[in-house]
Amino acid sequence: MKVAGEAMRTIWLEPDGRTVGIIDQTRLPFRYETAALSDLAAMATAITTMQVRGAPLIGAAAAYGMALAMRPDAADGGVEDGDVERAHARLLATRPTAVNLRWALDRMREVLLLTPPSDRLDRAYAEAAAIADEDVEICRSIGRHGLHLIRAAHLRNPDRPVRVLTHCNAGWLATVDWGTATAPLYLAHEAGIPLHVWVDETRPRNQGAFLTAWELGQHGVPHAVIPDNTGGHLMQHGLVDLVIVGTDRTTAKGDVANKIGTYLKALAARDNDVPFYVALPSSTIDWTLEDGVQGIPIEERSGDEVALITGLAGHGGLETVRLVPEGSAVVNYAFDVTPARLVTGLITERGVCSPEDLAQLFPDHQPP
Ligand code: MRU
Repeated sequence: MKVAGEAMRTIWLEPDGRTVGIIDQTRLPFRYETAALSDLAAMATAITTMQVRGAPLIGAAAAYGMALAMRPDAADGGVEDGDVERAHARLLATRPTAVNLRWALDRMREVLLLTPPSDRLDRAYAEAAAIADEDVEICRSIGRHGLHLIRAAHLRNPDRPVRVLTHCNAGWLATVDWGTATAPLYLAHEAGIPLHVWVDETRPRNQGAFLTAWELGQHGVPHAVIPDNTGGHLMQHGLVDLVIVGTDRTTAKGDVANKIGTYLKALAARDNDVPFYVALPSSTIDWTLEDGVQGIPIEERSGDEVALITGLAGHGGLETVRLVPEGSAVVNYAFDVTPARLVTGLITERGVCSPEDLAQLFPDHQPP
């Protein structure tokens, strides 16, 4: 997608062919800054601190983290089998919920252990690049399938924009390019279908207000940021045609973990007969799990993310202020699980299906 009119991905190789470039997402929307990561520790920190975030991008970033660990000058890596295992374990510990992390790391480990140590460095970079390139194509396919849903909504009400509500950032910033939930939106916008996107602010990290609004703005897609509690009211008043969100882990039965608050949107959507779609690459499916509420590990993050907020001050600098009284306890669950019964459809790279048909759409998946 584009930043100030220039085509960008969220992760790339610097001209030396070894250092990994990222957009530092902790600075958006106030500062557009990139960072150059040259070792495993830097990549692990980038994932943990959410300089890179979003399930598919976490997977691609972890793959590049494995490649960084293979560099001959790596202080925290090496090309022996034990080094591969250590890099895998280190990166796997960065964030617990998005299963793309494990998926990408397992793929890298398998490929590397089948490669002679002397060839592992080049092989690691090639495999990480393949994961990133595949993600772009997969998201484009998700976009093509999701576009049909938006076109159908447009044909039902051709005289007004299609009103889509989304939560968190499942945009191109959360993937390598295009996004999952946003890919159909970008394709619809390109196709001239009038759109209006309701962007949930997404407390406490504000991925909607900070990231989704920024990227939609960069592409000229009409949108409005809404406080997280607004969606139900909009749905009751017929102001939402469909909800599209992303997911960090989807079980074999179609339960979906996504950013905290997604479940409440799904409940409101069901109560108001608003279709609730979840867009995902198949790398987000955890075929080993059926019951998401019981089985999906939910990340708990620092209470400071709730108690403090950083924004642009009048003098143009970034300022952090406190929102919660000193001494009040704060709890910060980063994700929740929406049961499959509340999901109208899953938009995958192979097409749109109901949760119960997911396994049929991927008959080649490896059951546990
Ligand atoms: O904590 P984050 O910002 O990594 O959470 C991201 C989300 O919840 C996204 O909706 C999800 O990863 C899908 S991204 C295409």
